[in-house]
Amino acid sequence: MNKFKILSLCAAVCVLCGEGKASAQDKTTINVDASQVGAPIQSTMYGVFFEDINFGADGGLYAELIKNRSFEFKNHLVGWLPFGDVEIRKDKPAFDQNPHYARLTFKTRNLTSSGLENEGFRGIGFKQGEKYKFSMYARNQEKEPVKVKIELISSDNVVASAELVVESNKWTKLSADLVPRRTDKKGKIRITMAGRGVIDLDHISLFPENTWKGREGGLRADLVQALYDLNPGLFRFPGGCIVEGTTLDTRYEWKKSVGPVENRPTNINRWNYTFNQIRAYDYFQSLGLGFYEYFLLSEDLGAEPLPVLSCGLACQYENSNDPHDKEYCPVEHLQPFIDDALDLIEFANGAVTTKWGKLRAEMGHPEPFNMKYIGIGNEQWGELYPERLEKFIVAIKAKYPDMQIVGSSGPSAAGERFDYGWEQMNRLNVDLVDEHYYEPPTFFYNGATRYDNYDRNGPKVFAGEYAAHHSSKTNNFDTALSEAAFMTGLERNADVVYMATYAPLFAHLDAWQWRPDLIWFDNFEVVLTPNYYVQQLYGQNPGTNVVPLTVDGSPLTGQNNLYGSAVIDKNTNELIIKVVNSSNQDRNTTIKLDSSVKGENAQVTTLRAADLSMENSLENPKNVVPVNSTAKISNGELNFNVRSQSFSVIKIKM
Ligand code: AHR
Repeated sequence: MNKFKILSLCAAVCVLCGEGKASAQDKTTINVDASQVGAPIQSTMYGVFFEDINFGADGGLYAELIKNRSFEFKNHLVGWLPFGDVEIRKDKPAFDQNPHYARLTFKTRNLTSSGLENEGFRGIGFKQGEKYKFSMYARNQEKEPVKVKIELISSDNVVASAELVVESNKWTKLSADLVPRRTDKKGKIRITMAGRGVIDLDHISLFPENTWKGREGGLRADLVQALYDLNPGLFRFPGGCIVEGTTLDTRYEWKKSVGPVENRPTNINRWNYTFNQIRAYDYFQSLGLGFYEYFLLSEDLGAEPLPVLSCGLACQYENSNDPHDKEYCPVEHLQPFIDDALDLIEFANGAVTTKWGKLRAEMGHPEPFNMKYIGIGNEQWGELYPERLEKFIVAIKAKYPDMQIVGSSGPSAAGERFDYGWEQMNRLNVDLVDEHYYEPPTFFYNGATRYDNYDRNGPKVFAGEYAAHHSSKTNNFDTALSEAAFMTGLERNADVVYMATYAPLFAHLDAWQWRPDLIWFDNFEVVLTPNYYVQQLYGQNPGTNVVPLTVDGSPLTGQNNLYGSAVIDKNTNELIIKVVNSSNQDRNTTIKLDSSVKGENAQVTTLRAADLSMENSLENPKNVVPVNSTAKISNGELNFNVRSQSFSVIKIKM
């Protein structure tokens, strides 16, 4: 062989054993013993946490297309472009909790007309040929009926119109259907007086007919579908920071979010002003998506509802550490907050003969929602918290001994506040402790062992808010892969970790405040992130019991850049193995199965990206998606090449 040929051969061999190829010395033997049935995986293990941040509710999940429909934003005309003679008033209102309304006057000759245009949430999205349900409350101030034109506008063209007549001098709901001739992601709506007179308008609303389950005034079908496809076992709501409020007055009060939507008082959203660089002056909460709708959604998703209520402390970040701060309700005045918690349980579970159970029935759900968990406080810390939480625990357990109470360990993953929080949660014997961590990917890789040494006899863990934060703050594959590795640790420690939810859940591409987020959307499209697919692969393959997965007798927690866990599913009679390779080299493994595993074929689903910076986007929504394949098992062994930078779920019939 001449020198040239030898060099060529070397080059070819080097290509074969270059990036992406495993070398023999990498071979790892993984043992899985499906006969050693371990801790049950709680049905609540993989859930979702919804907060109205990033226009997640109004402008997102809640399908209302009109912004500031009740004229109750601080500047009453935000979202509206008035023309002609339009005045905001609040005398003799239609709704006492949302008293402001618009008075339109068209009398003088020197006006073409009077009316209002609404810009929607970064535009009103409507699709050609689909039906949109318009409604408004109107009152005529004079005797002659007044015609009003309702028009959907796309680039200055009218693409759908209807006419309504305002006759009554009492507030009356008027409705019309609109079917646009054109699709527009960023259209608008115009309401114009077509006759002379004086009319009052309030609660001006436009919904697509096509909502989740076709419910009138319901939720965006595509966004709920994305949640449904995660197969979540838990649904935490409504926050997050919005539970606390920056002030006690602006905290989320569940009682304001039930009953007729027209009379749910608008609240400022705390994400309106939280970040100087990304203010959202038009971010308010209509509460159209309120506690009844949250419970209903939990039911639709097959997820246990976990409502979180204020513990009497407004956001501790935004207020002082002085216990006498006016934004901290004194312990001796806490009863109304405690009553809110007790009444909520009655609203969710009480008989229809009770005050709050009756309201639930009137809203359309006489059957109880079977709520089992309640969170008290969000990210609270210091002595202010346990002294308040204790009062709630005593009152709730006295009336509802089976109710599981979730307490907080504060805003960080470790440190003084965290340790004090846990110590107090142990003392108070809460059922679950909510932990939050937004940290770099390395934290999540290291975190695969986080729960290995937790007290097995203390409160259980709810990893209530977590997400890997890359310096780019994107939902790139680096973050998703580290979360997948971390979650092998959640799964392996299912005797301690009972619940886990990524955060935040949703973000509007044109109106976000915080990132990364699990699901991005605009007025039409949904972008599922690589992180979403990680959650989905866990959520759809939770199993029922942990079984040991070991390398040289130890759990697989990063040896050779591999992470793994295994469960069996007693319902489907399957063994489910999850394995992550965080390196840029393939890893050859032999997965040795015990004799209880009879299957000869493995179904493999792999999420992989050659480049860790890869993301999914509107333009390229399928950059990183799971891919299915099969593999053969022979003599109880599966030779499995764990591809570089990949997360695989392997399912084998038992
Ligand atoms: O998920 C975003 C925010 O992060 C939540 O509102 C809060 O609990 C945490 O600080």
